[in-house]
Amino acid sequence: GPPLRVLADRAGVRIGTAVDMTALAEDRTYRRTTAREFDSVTAENVMKWESVEPQRGVYDWKPADDLVHFARAHGQVVRGHTLVWHSQLPAWLTTGVADGSIDAKELRGILREHITTEVKRYKGRIQQWDVVNEVFEEDGSLRNSIWLQQLGPSYIADAFRWAHAADPKAKLFLNDYNVEGVNAKSTAYYNLAKGLRAQGVPVQGFGIQGHLAIQYGFPGQVAENLARFEALGMQTAFTEVDVRMILPADAEKAATQADYFRRLLDACLGARGCRSFTVWGYTDRYSWVPGVFAGQGAATPMDEEYGRKPAYGAVREGLAAG
Ligand code: G3I
Repeated sequence: GPPLRVLADRAGVRIGTAVDMTALAEDRTYRRTTAREFDSVTAENVMKWESVEPQRGVYDWKPADDLVHFARAHGQVVRGHTLVWHSQLPAWLTTGVADGSIDAKELRGILREHITTEVKRYKGRIQQWDVVNEVFEEDGSLRNSIWLQQLGPSYIADAFRWAHAADPKAKLFLNDYNVEGVNAKSTAYYNLAKGLRAQGVPVQGFGIQGHLAIQYGFPGQVAENLARFEALGMQTAFTEVDVRMILPADAEKAATQADYFRRLLDACLGARGCRSFTVWGYTDRYSWVPGVFAGQGAATPMDEEYGRKPAYGAVREGLAAG
């Protein structure tokens, strides 16, 4: 059948994947498959702060530039990931805050500089930016990060304003996991987004990562959740979809996984404001899951040899029907 991106185009959505830049450099099949199947790419790691500014004032844009060039060469858009996060911060920054050599005032300037520099570098090349990532806890309270501790909750509005000033055309997103359905965490995002927009803060999208696990079941009220953000005038997107399982995989688990991929995709296709569906890697050869969840994996639509699993077929059928 036709590649996913051809079907996605007909359905009016982007089909995306996270890209592992080491694999892209070393694995020809990965390069070819990424180009053939997807029309949106997200850097799995290389646009994160620790990657772009490993030492203070010393930037390494090479891998991020490589991805942007790859995307351009293959007619793909780029999702920028991510500007403000509590994780994968450079050591110089976390150490400086911890030992008091970077105070709150300086930290705010550093954050502003980081956002401005990175967004400006890729101005016009990034369709959607994940401006702030994973800022809430499961219970809907703000996550206790260096940003919240040092700058207070206003760092979120500041981040969106600075990103917008640097690239007024990029769509600016909030992004998190465990926010597929209606729950305390997604409701915290809804309230945050509503408040920010009422104040005129440029936040245009809600990114739902979509890291599911079959042993936890499928989240409830996904369509309702998308609809309430769209009622605020926002876009939505699935940004990091994968569906892990307890290994070993078997036919029944693979079928459940396929069903979960299809249901998330259908929720996107059924929502007017959902214009992109991105998987967090498409082959088990390069998935982050086994390294983080011991004994779990097989989370992507293709196996380690690029063989298509039922989940690939489910995504293809969903796009073809959409
Ligand atoms: O690049 C270094 C390498 O130089 C070093 O030798 C090696 C030793 O540990 O680490 C390498 O960095 C690793 C990096 O991936 C690149 O491979 C980090 O250890 C590892 O922690 C990092 O994991 C990434 C993780 O974010 C970090 O939190 C995963 O690849 C990436 O898939 C994952 O992505 C996140 C999203 O950004 C946000 N949402 C959740 C999602 C899954 O955790």
